[in-house]
Amino acid sequence: MNKTIALSFAQVTEAAAIAAFDWVGRGNKNLADEAAVKAMREQLNQMPIDGEIVIGEGEIDEAPMLYIGERVGNSQAGSFREESLAVDIAVDPIDGTRMTAMGQANALAVLAAGKRGCFLNAPDMYMEKLVVGKALKGLVDLNLPLVQNLQQIAERTNRPLADLCVAILAKPRHDQIIAELQQLGVKVVAFPDGDVAVAVQCCLPNSQIDLMYGIGGAPEGVVAAVAVRALGGDMQARLLPRDVVKGNSPENVAIAEQEIARCQAMKVAVNQVLALEQLVSSDEVVFCATGITHGDLVRGVEREQNRLCSETLVIEGNGSIHRLRSSRFV
Ligand code: FBP
Repeated sequence: MNKTIALSFAQVTEAAAIAAFDWVGRGNKNLADEAAVKAMREQLNQMPIDGEIVIGEGEIDEAPMLYIGERVGNSQAGSFREESLAVDIAVDPIDGTRMTAMGQANALAVLAAGKRGCFLNAPDMYMEKLVVGKALKGLVDLNLPLVQNLQQIAERTNRPLADLCVAILAKPRHDQIIAELQQLGVKVVAFPDGDVAVAVQCCLPNSQIDLMYGIGGAPEGVVAAVAVRALGGDMQARLLPRDVVKGNSPENVAIAEQEIARCQAMKVAVNQVLALEQLVSSDEVVFCATGITHGDLVRGVEREQNRLCSETLVIEGNGSIHRLRSSRFV
């Protein structure tokens, strides 16, 4: 992807993070999300691209969120002609809406963009994810129990299980596996929300996390996969209907039926392991994440006198990593 365009996507997550910053700690995650969505859309619509949101926050009837199929960019204004500027975009205006609302660490504004057709098309549903960094690429299989994967890693890398560190979303559905790992002596980092940041961290050089596992959102999974691929890591994933994750109440079963129908329409398999190449099929991609609150991956937005400063991590498909600091008057 053209480097100038790639880097200019950083302004999109930056705008979303700055907009969300007003809502940090105010207890209203919906208003925080709305502000980030609006800022993200406005910034995308200033870019000279023919963009399509392929991974977003739901479907057209759930607008005003950035919905799947929404067109963005200023191509309609006739400012570009090249076909190479046709891009698919995967967005998560806030990964960590609850953390933003509660003023907690690690909330991000994130997106990934790439050439048309390069991302898995999937509805906004649950996804089981397994991520490892470059050193462990090829050593994991989501079809196997997590403990077996860890034993395999320990054997092949000649490290004791007690030396391995696994990050898992701290949700009740993961309580049992967390307890099982801890009993085996594995170090567990149970994080409350925000699995994009952790997936990326897992693949950065000198990461202290060997593996990330957990059931989280599918949009977050696809966005994270872009960074994982660019950094040479590995990821496997499985789309899961809501009733499998949250229990089979009539409401969950009804949602699950809709999700399965949507997956059929999008021609994507449910309950089947998807390889990294199925999540992201090209290196012509870019990943951008701007911190809303301070985090392990990037600093959050900070007020310095009459300016707001932000930090954005940009990872290009060729593995180049940039950390951009910017500030704007308020
Ligand atoms: P949002 O801020 O978009 O709600 O996502 C936060 C998050 O923790 C994701 O990082 C994760 O993938 C997902 O929610 C898990 O979903 P749930 O909160 O339903 O368990």
